[in-house]
Order: sequence, then C-alpha cells, then structure tokens
Amino acid sequence: MMDCLSARRYQHAALGDRPVVRLVPDNLAEAADLTQEFYGFQRPARVHPVGQQARQGLGFPDWALIHDPDRAAFALEVVKEFRVQAKIARSRPGAAKDGMVAIGERLGRSVPHFLPSFYEECGRTFLALENANMATQFFNKAREAEKVHALQVDENLRRDTFLEFALAGAVARYLPLQLPDFSVDWAALEGLINSKTRAILVNTPGNPCGKVFSQEELAQLAELAQRHPHLLFITDEVYEHIVFAPARHACLAAQPGMRERTLVISSFSKTLSMTGWKVGYVFAPPHLTAAVRASHQFLTFCSASPLQAALAEVMDRLPAYVDELAAEYLQRRDLWCSLLDAAGMPSRVPQGRYFVISDVRSIGHQDDVEFCRWITQQLGVAAIPASAFYHTPEAGRALVRWAFCKGFDT
Ligand SMILES: Cc1ncc(COP(=O)(O)O)c(C=O)c1O
Repeated sequence: MMDCLSARRYQHAALGDRPVVRLVPDNLAEAADLTQEFYGFQRPARVHPVGQQARQGLGFPDWALIHDPDRAAFALEVVKEFRVQAKIARSRPGAAKDGMVAIGERLGRSVPHFLPSFYEECGRTFLALENANMATQFFNKAREAEKVHALQVDENLRRDTFLEFALAGAVARYLPLQLPDFSVDWAALEGLINSKTRAILVNTPGNPCGKVFSQEELAQLAELAQRHPHLLFITDEVYEHIVFAPARHACLAAQPGMRERTLVISSFSKTLSMTGWKVGYVFAPPHLTAAVRASHQFLTFCSASPLQAALAEVMDRLPAYVDELAAEYLQRRDLWCSLLDAAGMPSRVPQGRYFVISDVRSIGHQDDVEFCRWITQQLGVAAIPASAFYHTPEAGRALVRWAFCKGFDT
C-alpha cells in the first residue's frame, strides 16, 4: 500500500512569516491540519504533492520539518537515505556514522539550520542501539553545527535535548527490598549513593510486593535527603488508593523539606480500573515539572484528551469511590491469601494494591518461571514469575505474583 505525501505549509501568528512545513501522508492530512489548528496554526495555505512511500501511517518521521515547501522532495530523499543508514547502524556503526555524516554535509550546503535536529536524530538512533559513544559524538556534532553555521540557539530547547541525552545515558542502581517483609536495608541504600547520584525512585504502594512505606520509613528517607542535598526523589504512587488498614498511604513530598525535591507520579489507571489508558499526572514544583514536560514531549508526546476531560468530570466523586474500591479489593485479598494458605503457599499479606507474592519453595518448586508455566498449562491458573521484576533475576527466583483484581467467580 502506498501513501501519497504532501508538504503542508502552516502559518502561526507567533512565527511571523516563518512557516512550518510538515510532510504528511494524504490519508492523515485532515488529522494533521486539525492538530496544527489545535496549536493555533491556520489551515494550510499551500499543499505540495511530494511523492509516494510505502504506507507507514503515523510512523513517518515528523522530524523532517523543513521551512521551504520547494525542498520537500529533497527532505523526503534525505529521510529515505537516513533510514538506510539507521539499518546499517545495527551491524556496522562506523559505516553508518560515515553515511550519516555524508548526509549531514549535503544538508549543510542547502539547509544548515536543519543540521542540529538531524545530528540529534542520528544520536537518538545510536542511543536506541545502546551505543552511547556514537550518540555522544552526534550530540556534540549538533552543537558544533550551531557554532559553525552561527545558528540562533534556543537555550531552552538545547537544555531539553541535553536532558534527553543525559537521562537516556543515566545509570540505574538497584536495591532489592529484603524478604520476608520487604524492608529497606538503609545502610545498603546509603552505600549506593555517591556524588553522581541524581535521584532515588520510590514505589509505594509497591508492585509487585505490596509494600506500603510507613510514616517512619518516609521520615527516614527525608533524613537521608538532608544528608545528601543534591538528591531528588521520584515517587511512583499509582496504587495510592488501594491500601488496606492499618497501613495508610502517605506521600514522601509531605515530609518536612521534601516538597521542593520530590516528583510525585500517579495515575488513574489503577484507581479507575483502566490500565492501558495511560492517564496520570506528575506533581512537583515548576522547576522540576519543566524537565518532566520536556521528557514527556520526547516519550509519550500526548495523552488521551477525551479521557482527561472525562476524568475532570468525575474528580469530585473520586473520594467516595476509592473507599468502595479499597473495600472490594480487601475482600478479594483476604479470600486469595486464605486460598494460598490452604494450598500450602503462605504469602506475606500485602498492605496495598491487588497482587500477592508467594514463595513456591514451600510446595517443592525451585524455579518461578517453570512453576508459572506448569500451573498455567496444567491447572489453567496464570501467575507471573517474580524474577522478571528483579534487576538480578536470582533474587526473585522462587517467588510468583498472583493478581486478585478479579470477580469472585474467577
Ligand atoms: C508500580 C506501577 N507504576 C506505574 C504503572 C503504570 O501505570 P499506567 O497504566 O498509568 O501507565 C504500573 C502499571 O502496571 C505499575 O504497576
């Protein structure tokens, strides 16, 4: 199936006579116009047919933005050549680098203002292939191009791109919670922190273990934060409303001194039983949300707007609903834990969310993956091997995760 591509030229009051031109397959033309309209652009005054390409739909790279419709055919050609090099990069990074630099030299002769975006895109290709060295080289070439061609630089955009590359190259260090009660080894946590550590990620209520950080533990984290003033904290609290008494969910950001240093991430997925719809929010001071907005642009780009509108409608009714929800889950938790007990697989009763972990060594199994395959095939009951959740799979080798977000008949 072939798509006809057109270059659509949009004007925006804020951009003066500088147009924005997008290469759009004709079947997406109306959608592209509507999207641009949403951002305040006028309907396209000029539409140039450019060529044909195998159908890619939304996969067509939008980074091929140009500012002159007459160059649209040239841009399309560059996109095709770039794709060839991106494929070569998988097996022959050196050759792909030479190919990309050659494209860059051609671009430099006709549309030098496009070079920084082009080299950043080359860098992204290598980042996706986990070749940080090549990615860095192209990131540097982007900056060099700005200097050589004396391009005007938007400091904010440059900072965003830098963040994107810096974050992508970040090194994660992991601290498994300690069995049997999923406690924190505070000395080990402190031992992982060094001058390069940027942030600590905390998940409470936790998946897969169901741990809810207590007030004392959150206070301990706040004390640790005082000892390491360069650290930020990122909390994943998507199960905040599925917590069972006496446990209570509390926000790390509410601890003294933590509000300015914590990014709270939550979601409606679990609260409104709509996993997969991906609507959530980040709560943090503006200087931190600036970075989140920049990353969001590069990661998910946009959210499901109709769902956001629906959520705004039901917001007032949430408090009553979440109490009901937690009560429903509590009944299921107690039932499922008693069934596991009866089956000889005692579990640690989770303090929150709708999963429970049990150790299958108690019934003579040593390997969680094998156990899960066996029970799914033989008994028609599916569980998740918990080793998949660990950075070092060995740490979860005999643990399995059961989900009790089901009807009682199930
Ligand atoms: C701990 C945790 N955080 C985040 C998510 C993702 O939430 P969402 O569906 O809003 O992307 C999940 C979903 O499984 C989760 O378990």
